Amino acid sequence: MEIRTAKLTDVEQIQKLINGFAEEGLMLARSRHMLCEHIREFKVYEDDGEIKGVGSLHILWDDLAEIRALAIDKNYQRKGLGRMIVESLLQEAKELGVPKAFTLTYQPEFFARLGFQSVNKDELPQKVWQECLYCIKFPNCDENALLIDVNKKDGELTPPGKTVF
Ligand SMILES: CC(C)(COP(=O)(O)OP(=O)(O)OC[C@H]1O[C@@H](n2cnc3c(N)ncnc32)[C@H](O)[C@@H]1OP(=O)(O)O)[C@@H](O)C(=O)NCCC(=O)NCCS
Repeated sequence: MEIRTAKLTDVEQIQKLINGFAEEGLMLARSRHMLCEHIREFKVYEDDGEIKGVGSLHILWDDLAEIRALAIDKNYQRKGLGRMIVESLLQEAKELGVPKAFTLTYQPEFFARLGFQSVNKDELPQKVWQECLYCIKFPNCDENALLIDVNKKDGELTPPGKTVF
């Protein structure tokens, strides 16, 4: 099973997956325009012709990227798919020469399992808050900030034994 770069023909299904969780308050909703404009940042997992997992790597600066818009279909969760997508995004960060990646999330335990470490949000550069301007909670963000050193051994994230894909 394969994680691949997203295509414009995936946009409708990516939006449905992300915005379903956004309605539950778990993540930020994305417009069709945003998804098209940033499609090259997205990786997806497709099964039976449907997008079952998605995540994106957004470059913010020459030393920092954000893992964002991560969503796994409820029927595909806890099978290692989220880990596979994040690892694929971190591998891309590594190839691009971005040393650090962070995420803002309500799922800190998941990212901690992958080697991310909690950081104080105030320690992140201001550029990080670009997308937050569109969040209904801004400026009262209650998400957790976690950071990973992309080049660190722990950050290489060897394939998990539990992955069933
Ligand atoms: C959070 C999410 C991406 C996790 O994806 P997933 O495919 O279920 O996760 P995986 O199966 O790859 O899990 C990897 C590890 O994290 C653990 N884990 C997964 N979700 C977890 C959670 N919510 N809390 C604690 N640990 C979790 C798994 O048990 C596994 O542990 P292991 O190292 O012992 O094997 C998925 O539940 C999801 O899409 N949630 C809804 C949207 C959302 O909250 N997105 C995050 C926004 S940034």
